[in-house]
Amino acid sequence: MRKIYWRRNSLTPIIFLVLLICFITFITTFHINQESIISFIYHTPNNCDELARNSLLHQSTIPPYHLLIPYQEFAMRTSISCHSYKLDEPKKNPSKLHPRHSQYLRGKFPYIVPYSNITFNDIENFYTKILVTKKNQTKILRTSFASNISFENVPYIYINDMWHPVGVISAQRTAILIPLQGRDFNAKTFIFNIHAFARRQLLTYTILLIEQVHPLGHRFNKGRLFNAGVRYIQNQESLNITCLILHDVDLIPENDGNFYTCEPIHPKHTTIRVQQVGSKRGYTRYYEFLIGGVLLLTMDLYKKVNGFSNLYWGWGGEDDDLSLRFIQRRICVVRPSDGLAIYAALPHPRGQRNNARFNLLTWSTVRLDTDGFAQIDPMIRFVEIQKRSTVTHIKLDVNANEDLYKAPSMEEYQSLTDQTDEHITTTRKTIVNNDLSLIESTLNEKINEVDNLLPKVKHDHKSNKDEIASVTNFLEKAIAEHR
Ligand code: BGC
Repeated sequence: MRKIYWRRNSLTPIIFLVLLICFITFITTFHINQESIISFIYHTPNNCDELARNSLLHQSTIPPYHLLIPYQEFAMRTSISCHSYKLDEPKKNPSKLHPRHSQYLRGKFPYIVPYSNITFNDIENFYTKILVTKKNQTKILRTSFASNISFENVPYIYINDMWHPVGVISAQRTAILIPLQGRDFNAKTFIFNIHAFARRQLLTYTILLIEQVHPLGHRFNKGRLFNAGVRYIQNQESLNITCLILHDVDLIPENDGNFYTCEPIHPKHTTIRVQQVGSKRGYTRYYEFLIGGVLLLTMDLYKKVNGFSNLYWGWGGEDDDLSLRFIQRRICVVRPSDGLAIYAALPHPRGQRNNARFNLLTWSTVRLDTDGFAQIDPMIRFVEIQKRSTVTHIKLDVNANEDLYKAPSMEEYQSLTDQTDEHITTTRKTIVNNDLSLIESTLNEKINEVDNLLPKVKHDHKSNKDEIASVTNFLEKAIAEHR
């Protein structure tokens, strides 16, 4: 009689089960771990109770319901992306055009770096005369500041301080805000290119250059410049801006599929890959937490986080601070795909670093409501506003009436930071302890579950064995009968 062999590996189901349990445990604890940190910083009633119970936190001079975190650790561990969000799925509205339906999209954007002699008048002249009178057959335009311009003439009209595509109503009314200090050539290069880019997408738009001109020699305060720019827009009610684009002056988008549209409830960060102009090195991808470079958001979102902090002087930090504000308000950020969100970076010397930024970031969200857009007015003075159709050039004093605003001095920050050092250590310990005890209790639970499951597995295994034996018997009989 032919024998039938069954593979009887009694250990396999147990090993599989144990691995499965380990996997579930890992995922659960990892999730709880992250959640515990994130939820720790929000002022939900739960957290308040927890904080109130902790006497050390209670003694602190910092309001107890706010985030005080070791910033770098936090930035490393926190994701602010809305991972499952689908971009650019505009609601069907036949009367309002979304850029994805523009017939001028060509993919790669043929930006140019002009000669250094380019002036703001040249740009104005180009978009109001040279490009408009361009004959269809002329592919390449030559001007005194560039010899290889291949921009298309998209019919546009300038009405009430905004550029409109002729015969089209754009879905949004967009303002592109560019903060500036020095870097004049970058500004002209950017403005020259961005009009052609915006037109391919048929945006209704205006461009604002917000330049810090006073006090001279003072460090750059990008946060104040953005806040001032947004205040200016808000005051110009007739502009009726629905989408703000906060744009670095040195970044030129390279693909016109990178739509300059705001998402209704999420900020959109589009500088995912950046490559220096003329550099042979590849595109750089920055850290996940980064929202600097180019950020698009509605006016409502901007107000919801009280805009930027006004306290960052020098290079760095103000954008990370905004990231923390989004987290504090539970707002996640969307991003287009890597292939579209690519930029050419114009060379420039880097401004003086702000070494105080990490201290400021540590207690960033404590200041969310008291340091930002709502507080900007007494700090700024509009020195001059120059209006051209291609750019509204706002010159600003960003340190006006400083005594009206009692911002802490650096020394005061220092003492505050010293005071909070202990607080941070305690917070960190609490977080770690919370994590550990959570991990421990989850593990214990899982171990119990395994203990409880084992007899059942053993039992199941025995009944499996019996069943296999009976099937084997049956088959052996059937084969024998068949013969
Ligand atoms: C700075 C940010 C900057 C980023 C990328 C960070 O260290 O704090 O302001 O955007 O680096 O350059």
